[in-house]
This record gives sequence, C-alpha cells and structure tokens, in this order.
Amino acid sequence: MLVLGIETSCDETAAAVVDDGRIVCSNVVASQVELHARYGGVFPEMASRQHIRDITPVIEQAMAVARAGWDDLDAIAVTYGPGLAGSLLVGLNVAKGLAMARGLPLVGVNHMEGHLYSNWLHVGGRMRVAGDVSAPGAVYTLGADDVATLGGHDLLTDPRVPWPDDPPFPHLLLTVSGGHTELVHVRGHGDYALLGATRDDAAGEAFDKAARMLGLAYPGGPEIERAAAGGDPDAIRFPVAEVAGSPLDFSFSGLKTAVLRQVQADEAAGHTVRVADIAAGFQAAVVRALVGRVRRALSTVPAKAVLIAGGVSANTALRDALAEAVDYPLFIPPLALCTDNAAMIAAAGSFAFARGRRDGLDLEVAPGLGM
Ligand code: KG4
Ligand code: ZN
Repeated sequence: MLVLGIETSCDETAAAVVDDGRIVCSNVVASQVELHARYGGVFPEMASRQHIRDITPVIEQAMAVARAGWDDLDAIAVTYGPGLAGSLLVGLNVAKGLAMARGLPLVGVNHMEGHLYSNWLHVGGRMRVAGDVSAPGAVYTLGADDVATLGGHDLLTDPRVPWPDDPPFPHLLLTVSGGHTELVHVRGHGDYALLGATRDDAAGEAFDKAARMLGLAYPGGPEIERAAAGGDPDAIRFPVAEVAGSPLDFSFSGLKTAVLRQVQADEAAGHTVRVADIAAGFQAAVVRALVGRVRRALSTVPAKAVLIAGGVSANTALRDALAEAVDYPLFIPPLALCTDNAAMIAAAGSFAFARGRRDGLDLEVAPGLGM
C-alpha cells in the first residue's frame, strides 16, 4: 500500500511517500525555522504564505524521490488538526484538490496520532529507493546517504540486521511537542486512552520560553540542549511541579518562572547569567518530570513497550534517562522523524485507511483537535 502524506500544521511544509505504513520511500521537509527565528516563535500569517509557496515543489519532490507515479498511490493522507488554522488549510486544500483530480481516496490524520506513528517507520538501508534529487533552498530530503547520520533503532544498512518489530500492543506513549505533552495508553490501532496531559505549557513550549529568557535562539529545544552540554545539571536545582490529585498530569509554568527568577537573580548580583548551568538544571527538571510520570503510568496500565514521539523526543538527555529508568522495550523515532514531517502522517493515514477511514471533500480543518 503506497500513501502520499501531506503535513502543514505549523511551520514545516512536508510531503512523503510511505509503503505498507512503515517504509519511508521519500520524506521531504521545507522548514520555515529561519523565517520565524527573528520573531522568536511562529508568525502564523507568514507561515500560511510560505506553505503556499513551498507545497507544490515539496510534493513534486516527494513523488520524484520515491519514483512514484500518481497511479501507484492508494490514498492521500493529510493533517487536518491540531495546528494553526491558516497553515492546516493549505495542506488540506491541496490534498483535496489532488484527491479529486487523481481520483484517490482522502484520509484525514490527527497530527498527534502522526507523531505516534513515527515509531512504526523504517528509514534504513532497506529503504525502497535512494533518490538523488538535489535539494533546493531549505528543502531537506531524506536519502540513503543521510541515513548514516540519523541514528535510532532502525539503522538497517546491513541486510543481515533483522527487520525491526512493530511496537507491540498495548503500549504507553509519551508525546512531547511544542503544543502537547500527553501520556496515552495505546491499546490498538486507533484505540487510545488519555492518561495525563499538561495543565499549562507543553514541554517543548517550556524549552522555547526558557531559551528566550536565556537569550538563546528559536526553536529553544536544541539550543538549550547545546548550552546544557557545557553546564552542571546539579548546580541549580529546579523544582518539578505536581498537579494535586492528578499524578499523571504535568505542569511546567512554575519551572518557567523559576528560570526567570534565576536569570534575574544573576543579573541583580551583577555577574553574567549562568546560561549553561541554568539550561542544564532546567533540562534535568523537565526530564525528571517526564520520566517520573512514565514510571508512574507504567504501574497503572498494562504495557509491552514504551514509545516517545514529538519534537522534544529528539532530546538526548530525555532519551538516555528513559532508557535508564524504564525496563520495557523503548521505541524512539530517528531524529529526522521526531520533529514535524509527513512520513509519520502517511504512516498513520495508511493504518487508518486499512481500517476503512475515508474522508469527503467536506473535511474541515480542526485546529483544536484532541487525540
Ligand atoms: O513536534 P514538533 O516538531 O512540532 C510540534 O508539533 O509542536 O515539536 C517542536 C518542539 C519545539 O518546542 C522544540 O523546541 C522542541 O520540539 N525540540 C526540542 C529538541 N528539538 C526540538 N526540545 C528539546 N530538545 C531537543 N533536542
Ligand atoms: Zn508536531
């Protein structure tokens, strides 16, 4: 089954072709990060306009790298929420137009469900096609040559390495992105129970806000991670907030305030702000909060594996701490598939399509869609 995925929910214009819900045939992402960096966050109106500029070349490139023709496709999967309304509209309308023009079924995908399915993808040496399409401008193409730099559990450059297993059901999923922090019990394809969520800021949002306070660039996650590498995580102990009566919920707003106080205290004391130590202490506190909730959740629901997904799952300190603390098979997407991409949308769409999901041309964007 060959599915074209389209993703434009935030500030990445992305298209990908995925076979069997698992095999990445192409994965093209045009990132707008540089465009928004000077505003310290995503500027929604500019995001929509840039999606309109990038969407056609990105889709054409995804089809070319996969060497797929329109007749080879079984369906078109597209993110319809959650996300920025104006951004979602671009991808959804293009997907509708293509579905209508090519007579292909349309499958709407929840962006957060997409992040989950980044754990089902393989991008190793068994990738069906290693396309060599030169990448114009900010467009990034995942080709076989890039695989060696990706890391992750699915580095299959050696054909003797066995095909990785699918994540076994039921499993516990931690999604940590710029807009969401959720613990989900996944009992089967499309069968989810929300166990806990953030009451205020998402984990990625906390990284972005802390970075801004420390004078670091947007997006803050990778910047904090880099700064933290030169700091002492125990120099400043930041608090991990509990949500009274809800042991699986998260709260990061107190941590954000604590970072601000520390920056102000350093400034008031007349010495330079200890950026590296604050970044390291902050990152350690977020990791403690996330890992602690995962361990708690594992004592309340049956699970055969733990999966993490979303932009913050790119964080090495989080990956290492989970691997250390959790005695279950741990699925972590390769770095290139942690942040927004369309391969994960095509994967989620493939499994929904197999379950019979079909959407009409009346499908609307759902900016506040929950999992
Ligand atoms: O999933 P994603 O690409 O987009 C959303 O759906 O939100 O997540 C973006 C978030 C940003 O807040 C970014 O700062 C964070 O993921 N992020 C990281 C890292 N890389 C990206 N946070 C911590 N460490 C990282 N290495
Ligand atoms: Zn995302």
